[in-house]
Amino acid sequence: MNHQNDQQRMDKIVSLAKRRGFIFQSSEIYGGLNGFWDYGPLGVALKRNLKDAWWKDMLEGHDELSVPSGAPSAFEMVGLDCTIIMHPQVWKCSGHFDLFHDWMIDCRETKKRYRYDHLQGRWASFRGKKLFVVTDQSGDEALAHLQTRAQKGFGLRAKQAGDIVWENDMISLANNVSLDDALGPDASEPGTLTQPREFNLMFETKIGALASDDDDRAFLRPETAQGIFVNFKNVLDTSRVKVPFGIGQIGKSFRNEITPRNFTFRSREFEQMEIEFFCCPSDSGDWYRYWRDRRWQWYLDLGLTEGRLQLREHGTDELSHYSVGTADIEYAFPFLAEGEFGELEGIAHRGDFDLRSHMEGKLIRQDGQLVVETDSTGKPTHRGSGKDLSYFDDVKRERFVPHVIEPSAGADRAVLAFLCDAYHEDSVPDDGGNARKRTFLKLHPRLAPIKAAVLPLVKKDGMPEVAIELYKELKPHMTCMYDEKSSVGRRYARQDEAGTPWCLTVDGQTLKDKTVTLRDRDSLSQERVPIDDVVSLLKERLS
Ligand code: GAP
Repeated sequence: MNHQNDQQRMDKIVSLAKRRGFIFQSSEIYGGLNGFWDYGPLGVALKRNLKDAWWKDMLEGHDELSVPSGAPSAFEMVGLDCTIIMHPQVWKCSGHFDLFHDWMIDCRETKKRYRYDHLQGRWASFRGKKLFVVTDQSGDEALAHLQTRAQKGFGLRAKQAGDIVWENDMISLANNVSLDDALGPDASEPGTLTQPREFNLMFETKIGALASDDDDRAFLRPETAQGIFVNFKNVLDTSRVKVPFGIGQIGKSFRNEITPRNFTFRSREFEQMEIEFFCCPSDSGDWYRYWRDRRWQWYLDLGLTEGRLQLREHGTDELSHYSVGTADIEYAFPFLAEGEFGELEGIAHRGDFDLRSHMEGKLIRQDGQLVVETDSTGKPTHRGSGKDLSYFDDVKRERFVPHVIEPSAGADRAVLAFLCDAYHEDSVPDDGGNARKRTFLKLHPRLAPIKAAVLPLVKKDGMPEVAIELYKELKPHMTCMYDEKSSVGRRYARQDEAGTPWCLTVDGQTLKDKTVTLRDRDSLSQERVPIDDVVSLLKERLS
């Protein structure tokens, strides 16, 4: 599929998401709020199913007595739910206070703000005049955008566009380009872009009525992970877990993104599903590989198309200063240029960085070692808790600071990937036998917001009564709905768009032989099944 088709597909997905109540722009009646999204009735069910699947597969359903395939040993998993606002020192020691920023750049003319690393461009000349033409787009859009921008920058008519000489391939604006020569993505003349500035992505707030100065500043968490690290000892002391073990948490995180974009992909408020897995340093490499492979398989098991997924190991130049290894699970979202992928989840080997930071204070890497950062007087820049977060292994009789493997997934990005992947169109005969375009969401039954719809063929002859009885029988076991409004073809179409895997239709034959038709969303096959077997059959297919 080429990029333009992909973009059209994305537009249809966004439109279906709104039309069918999956995702709405936040505060829409007031014009919306950029970077914030609400989940409607179908969306909230899809997202809940996704989070439940993660929680069940990673934590609740985990068998701590067996060694899972690929794991170095058996291990335990427990859950946690921490606050969004934590002690400000947490963010100082974790490094977020000093380092969690993006570089931004403003345009003095248009008052628009851009992420510095998102700006790229090409040198262009026309009759001796030279400009660096900048775009904030990517892929094919970027090239087309540059062409119109250069025309504007040189003040040319469309027929003169062919006379522009392009001098190089696309390069980043950060590539030593003089800003005096740069024509901003929306500006009418060069030299209007400001020098790049740091912008901390944490949302600030104040605690209590008397809060006044800088020291009272608190932050909305930009990741759920830190709540787990600062509770490491609490969990260890209260739940009798032994290393190796993992703590999982699902919750909201907040980042004041400079340029939220691509539907929910980069939002300012979003949910994360994070595991911090604590293990002995000597086998941490094996645990890293185990979690990387396991998390990859999870997306496949829930139905994401393997050809649109990519597992990308970071090169050493890309690793954070504390990271020993990181891999990203990425998805080819339709809004991205061909060949580009967007991150769904990162699996990072974080060494002992996090627990040591919260013991000793903010750490930096010096001569290959992690050491406490100090100010000019030799005092720690940000003092740690001073609490001992080391672990005594009573089998090996040794004390160590556990290493951490962190599989960190975004719930909203996963929902978006599953929505994009599930979107399908085909053609089916309508009630009159004519071909009709069909849109359906091929969601895994575990994720589908509604598992089954019960439909009387017509609203008479005793069919609604039988259908309501079946609906009531099914309801305690799974999310299902009863629908008797409009033609059966239209009702099937509504369920297909909602991603409902099965429709059960009560018709004339039901009244004679107590069977219903079971329609499969993907194959469109219709089989007759005894009404008394429906609950057990669907429960089996769901398990
Ligand atoms: N504790 C590690 C951590 O937070 P991250 O790569 O910054 O790592 C993890 O975030 C995941 O959270 C990402 O893979 C992505 O799925 C999700 N995520 C991060 N920023 C996001 C944003 N602005 N909007 C939506 N999801 C986001």
